[in-house]
Amino acid sequence: MIIFQTPSEMAEWSFQERKSGLSIGFVPTMGALHHGHIALIQQSISQQDRTVVSIFVNPLQFNSAADLKSYPRQFETDSKLLTETKIDVLYAPSADVMYPQGFATSISAGTIAHSMEGLHRPGHFDGVATVVSKLLNSVMPTVAYFGNKDFQQVAVIRQVVKDLDIPCQIVGAQTVRDSDGLALSSRNVRLTAEHRVQAPMIYQLLEEIRGIFTAGTTDAQILKKQFLTLESCADAMVEYFEVVDSRSLISKSEADDSCTICVAVWFGDVRLIDNISLAQNFA
Ligand code: PAJ
Repeated sequence: MIIFQTPSEMAEWSFQERKSGLSIGFVPTMGALHHGHIALIQQSISQQDRTVVSIFVNPLQFNSAADLKSYPRQFETDSKLLTETKIDVLYAPSADVMYPQGFATSISAGTIAHSMEGLHRPGHFDGVATVVSKLLNSVMPTVAYFGNKDFQQVAVIRQVVKDLDIPCQIVGAQTVRDSDGLALSSRNVRLTAEHRVQAPMIYQLLEEIRGIFTAGTTDAQILKKQFLTLESCADAMVEYFEVVDSRSLISKSEADDSCTICVAVWFGDVRLIDNISLAQNFA
């Protein structure tokens, strides 16, 4: 595994590989790797000739200094794991390299970024769109892999790549969950023991609500009311519950099978997000 730390080294390597006719799969991450990240990486390894993974905790996408500071960092462990996973390149630029003095450009993500995460984390998706564009420009991948756990993030990135003519295919991959249903997240390690026991209720309730929908209840307010029962059976605060069109992310008052339910829930100072598709053929 080669480690690159600058855009020029990264781009030079990718240029040569693409020139040789090889495809490059890319998995951008902020490190603190778990099985969700590894599943994306393995998908890339199985589908592409070369696989590049980036680790960069992007300050631009954090809207609180405390959240940025407390974000788990474990570069040595991650790097060892990536060597074992047999990727070709780890791209790990520093913040000074990504945002040197004088850095002044930002991408403003469009209306798809204004609801849900965008509403509750102002500026978050502009930061994501900016860093992902920079990373794609350096890595020049054939395909970039993102997790559907961050459902709105994938939609925002698809829009950015389309609008800015970035020649890269975007793949959204299935959410990897713990055996109790909790979506794997780098933030889960910050849950207290009590909250870790309660957090799986998020997905249990989402599955229950999908069952209620399948049985004929489509009113989003009724489905939401069911989800809000989480606040009475756990030490949790629901930040949002939205039934949205799976493509446009426009909020719907009546659910149908082209919709996805997206939620954000606080357990203490840890914020978790999850979603469930209402599509009939959902695996
Ligand atoms: P990070 O949170 O490290 O996630 C990196 C990738 O792993 C994202 O595409 C995310 O959706 C995916 N992922 C996280 N948990 C997952 C799970 N349980 N199952 C499947 N995939 C999962 O998302 C980011 O970093 C950043 O915003 C980034 C795109 C790197 C830009 O800074």
